[in-house]
Formats: sequence, structure tokens, C-alpha cells
Amino acid sequence: MRKPVRKAVFPVGGMGTRFLPATKAMPKEMLPVVDKPLIQYAVEEAQAAGIEQLIFVTGRGKSAIEDHFDHSFELSHLLGSRGKEEMLNSITSWVPGPGRVSYTRQQEPLGLGHAVWCARDLVGDEPFAVLLADDLILSRTPCLKQMTNAYAETGGVMIATMDVPKEHVSRYGIMKVKRDDGRLAEVSGMVEKPSPDKAPSTLAAIGRYILHPEVFDHLEKVERGAGGEIQLTDALARMISTHPFHGFRFEGERFDCGDKVGFLQANVAFALAREDMRGEVADFVRNLSNTL
Ligand code: G1P
Repeated sequence: MRKPVRKAVFPVGGMGTRFLPATKAMPKEMLPVVDKPLIQYAVEEAQAAGIEQLIFVTGRGKSAIEDHFDHSFELSHLLGSRGKEEMLNSITSWVPGPGRVSYTRQQEPLGLGHAVWCARDLVGDEPFAVLLADDLILSRTPCLKQMTNAYAETGGVMIATMDVPKEHVSRYGIMKVKRDDGRLAEVSGMVEKPSPDKAPSTLAAIGRYILHPEVFDHLEKVERGAGGEIQLTDALARMISTHPFHGFRFEGERFDCGDKVGFLQANVAFALAREDMRGEVADFVRNLSNTL
């Protein structure tokens, strides 16, 4: 029987230079979309997909993330004593239970592949998910849940994917596709950040992965790739012929919150998706667009 996906790795060691000065003293993963930090969206998505163990690959200056996923006794006590049950719930309901979170540090910024490799002992010999908090997905069914459902049929390696404009392919891992039923794409090659004239397609990897633990052996051996970094894409490319390997077209809208405009769009879209804010925000956006 196929082992279930119980563990998720969250690489959160990046410097967040694209959001300076906001990220000078605060991790970029703590930037809020409406009223929730980016990393909490990713963690809640993992929890909704049945993930039991959360593994954060952090770096210097990231202790706010550890505090966020712990209880805040002073705040809980204060809100409880004032009868603010809803607020109390908003800071406690998603806090992982004791022993459900592990942290390890990526000591040098050597890339996404290296960050994932740093989690090898914490993951062990079982399939696992990787979630990049920068990629925020607004959907009816949480994206990773859609993927674990599909993975139950396929096993192997599964990567969330979407078509991107040709001029943007150099920002992504791009897949070469053998067969495609519109939902699952059978992958026959992958290349990290190709130039538009070298890209095998416009089908891009988005930051949700279900991986086979063999990837750690390949990460150990791959040379530095695009941008001089150890690339997850390069290690995965070595597994294509030996494992079922799929791109999964998810239902939902993805926002690139590693980019300022994408981050702003996410704020507007997530606010519009909220009952309590939709009316006011929609009026504001409508009025604004009349002035443009
Ligand atoms: C990473 C991956 C890339 C993927 C992208 C999705 O790139 O290396 O393959 O397409 O995430 O967001 P990064 O955005 O960290 O440069």
C-alpha cells in the first residue's frame, strides 16, 4: 500500500530582499495578506491536506515564525479574560500540537534544493510535501488537498503546475510534457528558469510539490545550477524516468507573493473573497477604477 503524505517542508530561509525595507527586521513569510501571514496560509493548507508534521527550514532572523506557531499565553489569557472568544480562536485554532513542528536551519543561502536537502533527516524515508509560502493559492479545495487526492492514484512525484506567459518562463521550473489530459500532465523533462527560446513548454512548476524521498540522494549529488544555486528542479529531473512524474493543474488562482504587484493583487482578491469585507472593498476598487 502507498504510504500517506504526512510531512511537509516549508523552506523559509530566504532573505526577502524584494520586499525591503519591510523585511529588514521581519521574515517575508510573516507579511500579511489581509490579516494572516503568508506562512500561516501555507500551514493551514497543509493541515487541510492531512499533514501531521511541519518542518520549517529557517535561517537567521526568522524567530518570529517560531513564535507565531507557538501559543501566546499572555495574549490568550487576556482575550479569554475579556470574553473575546472569536479572537482567541483566531490565534489558537491552527497552532500545531506539541511535537508537531520541527525547525532546522539552512546555514547558507544555497538555493531551494539545498533548503529541502537540509530537511532530509527530519523527513526520513517517506513521501513528503514541499510548500513555498510565496505562492498563495485561492481555491475552493486547498491546493495541496487537491494534489494528495490525485497522488493517491498516481504516487511518484507530483508538482502543481499552470501555464504562464512565454515571456515569464525564465522565472520558473518548466516542464516538458509527454501526455496531458488537461488535469494531469505526464512529464518527460524539466528545466529551471530557461530563456523563452529554450523552454520546452510554458507549463511552469508552482510551489506545491509531493516528493519521493529518493530526491535527497539526487540533491546530495547535483551541481549548482541556474543562478549558481542547488536547484530542486535539477534533482527532480533525474527521477523522471524512474518514477511516475506528473504536473498537476490545480483549480484556483495563484498569486506570486514574492512580487510586490502579485502581493497587492493577493490582498485585493483575498479581501474580496471575504464576506465581512467584500462590499466595502468592491466599492473602493470600483471607484478607483473609475478614476483611472
Ligand atoms: C522556485 C523553483 C521554481 C518554481 C518556483 C515557483 O523558484 O525553483 O522551479 O517554478 O519556485 O514559484 P523561485 O521562485 O524560488 O526562484
